[in-house]
Amino acid sequence: MSFIITTPLYYVNDKPHLGSLYTTIICDAIARFKRLLGEDVIFITGVDEHGLKIQRTANEKGIEPMSHCDKISEIFNINWNNWDISFDKFIRTSSKNHELVVKEFFERVKGSNDIYMGVQKGWYCVGCEEFKDNPENSTTFKCPIHQKNLEWRNEENLFFRLSKYQEQIEKIIREPSFIEPIERRNEIINFVSRGLKDFSISRTNVSWGIPVPGNENHTFYVWFDALLGYVSAISSNETDQLLEKSINGGWPADIHLIGKDILRFHAVYWPAMLISAGMKVPKKVLGHGFLTREGQKMGKSLGNVLDPDILLSKYGNDSVRWYLIKDISLGNDGDFQDRRFVDTINNDLANTIGNLLNRTSSMSRKWFDNKVPNNEKTFNENILASFSMQIVESYMHNFNNYKLDLAANDVLNLAIKTNLYLNDNQPWVLIKDEANIPQVKEVIYNVLESTRIIGLLLLPILPELSSRIDSQLGNNYKKDLQWKDQIKWGSLEFNSELPKPSPIMNKLEYE
Ligand code: MSP
Repeated sequence: MSFIITTPLYYVNDKPHLGSLYTTIICDAIARFKRLLGEDVIFITGVDEHGLKIQRTANEKGIEPMSHCDKISEIFNINWNNWDISFDKFIRTSSKNHELVVKEFFERVKGSNDIYMGVQKGWYCVGCEEFKDNPENSTTFKCPIHQKNLEWRNEENLFFRLSKYQEQIEKIIREPSFIEPIERRNEIINFVSRGLKDFSISRTNVSWGIPVPGNENHTFYVWFDALLGYVSAISSNETDQLLEKSINGGWPADIHLIGKDILRFHAVYWPAMLISAGMKVPKKVLGHGFLTREGQKMGKSLGNVLDPDILLSKYGNDSVRWYLIKDISLGNDGDFQDRRFVDTINNDLANTIGNLLNRTSSMSRKWFDNKVPNNEKTFNENILASFSMQIVESYMHNFNNYKLDLAANDVLNLAIKTNLYLNDNQPWVLIKDEANIPQVKEVIYNVLESTRIIGLLLLPILPELSSRIDSQLGNNYKKDLQWKDQIKWGSLEFNSELPKPSPIMNKLEYE
């Protein structure tokens, strides 16, 4: 059985931004963690290419929607590769295969008698690609998210009978494991308890979309189309029975990781659509918060957008990942602050983890012939070993519950504790008396071993830094052992060579 995790399929109106990078990095960390546990992971990402928003963006640029989409999709793909994102599937909703999936799915939903023609009246936000609930209450008729004028619509659309699924959806969303975190679940429970209304799934004024079979002047509503991207990502490249192939390929998804703004689509509309088509609903919808910059919403007009390319070249992969994973509690909103970012990286990665390894490795090389000392047990109990095992337990618990910030803090706590242990034991003082050598060996071994575990626990969070730590220890990840055994205490080999130390993390400067 595969473990399927997805990012949202990003709109191609623009290149990736900090928000899309955030979701993708979190998914990557979870995917890596699950792989380390031995699961067969399918990590899906991709792009959402249809709809009015994209059509207009291409028109403004004076190019065909398809060539616009080709260009931006490629940028997304390159970007995620540059960030070393370990995705397995990259789905484009403009692909032929996806179109076939949408059409096949539509036939099934129609077969369940869940499609009818009706009139859609209401205020539409093109930025959200969504009708807004009660704009009468708003004096501005602006979308609160995009701050752009809403557009009035009154047209014939095909509708999906969402109201029919009221009871089933109520039951699903009340399952504690379905929507996390709990604040997000409560929002959805409130929304659903107000009563579900059927929603329109086709448009007559949008040419850039998949034509609806039997109603050729309609195209599918971009959300109806896009959600199915998760299914087409694991269907095959053949032409028929694609839904069955997707089910055989592992459907349903285990986790949809998304921002809180698109929760309703994933936790309400999507499960109902799937039930209607006789398919299983996703196991979990994990909703994260929104990122601001120095307390302000990010936007082009404010000129405060953080460009992932610039972040990567300026600070590197590890720094940005660490900040986004450790500093923001998944589900809560987060703030990107330049000074805080630099301080966090310098304190946690350069000082606490980097220096620990560097100075211990230097001492070990100097006193023990460039090697890891052999550890002749002299102490009665090994406090560092037992602390590290407590940390491993807590880290596993936190990661398994998608509390990635707490898992990252566990790793940091192990590094802090290891530094304290080193300072308390002062091997640089002990070494002055030859009688203390066994004790010095013990202390140095313990610190190096603890650092090895720190490196391993960082593997899903900071893969690059993890591998630098491992090389500095000359450890080669003990590839014959499974990761969950590697993170147990005691497998750093006595008398193994320690390579010449070089800083594993450079300090960042304030701008
Ligand atoms: N195309 C839809 C998703 C379809 S999924 C079948 C879409 N795309 S999006 O590009 O606009 O947004 C993608 C994700 O980025 C959403 O989960 C959204 O929450 C997230 N973010 C956009 N801005 C964000 C921040 N400032 N902070 C954190 N995430 C934010 O919606």
